[in-house]
Amino acid sequence: MKIAIVQFNPELFDVKNNLKKALGLMEDSSAKLFVLPELAFSGYLFKTKDEIFEVAKLNDLVEKEIEDFSKRKGSAIVFGFPEKEGDTLYNSSMIVFPNGRKRIYRKTHLFFEEKKFFVAGNTGFFVEEFKGIKIGLAICFDWFFPESFRTLALMGADVIAHSANLVMPYCQSSNVYASLQNKVYIATANRWGKDENGEKVLEFTGKSQITSPKGEVLVQAPKDKDAILEVDVHPELSRNKHLNDLNDIFEDRKPKFYRL
Ligand code: ACM
Repeated sequence: MKIAIVQFNPELFDVKNNLKKALGLMEDSSAKLFVLPELAFSGYLFKTKDEIFEVAKLNDLVEKEIEDFSKRKGSAIVFGFPEKEGDTLYNSSMIVFPNGRKRIYRKTHLFFEEKKFFVAGNTGFFVEEFKGIKIGLAICFDWFFPESFRTLALMGADVIAHSANLVMPYCQSSNVYASLQNKVYIATANRWGKDENGEKVLEFTGKSQITSPKGEVLVQAPKDKDAILEVDVHPELSRNKHLNDLNDIFEDRKPKFYRL
């Protein structure tokens, strides 16, 4: 199955134009899974919860356009968005399927000032199957906790759809080894450019990439350009946890010696 990561530079608060930009990049692709960045259409650098509630008013419109695209293309789509539930905000991603089914993942590990606005996710990790491929969802800073990708791999994920707004320079290198250590594809869709909100400025690292169960960087985007990058995934590679004739990386685990 062909999967694609979508990298672009959303403008803070400009949801409708950001959505248009992303869908424009995706239009000519025949991928069956698209992975978009964390908080893909709202921007990231908020100063107040009110700002987030304001952009979240467009969540229904975003969801409808993504659903329409998914149906028309027969593709699953993963995108990050600011989810509101009453007075609570979650930093979430949603997987949308062409038959209209959806499932939400709420970011488990909040990064830095996200803690001022969002509540840590309570969905936990899960895997969904589409066209014979098992897809697990994770968001940005989840990468820093090896338990995140390990849990998804133990759940049987072939591909981890990793929506990101990365600001530190380590994730792209780390995910090479996370892919290898879990024998799983990791599709990191990052954004590029800067968010500026009053005196606050934050720059994102681009270099969206897909890494393979063999620890290869299959594709990587530039640091500062829009990109849509595609890869064919082979589930026989992610399901075979043998490293050699005598080592199976999951059967060889020794959980009784591990700390929770
Ligand atoms: C991050 O979790 N957005 C760095």
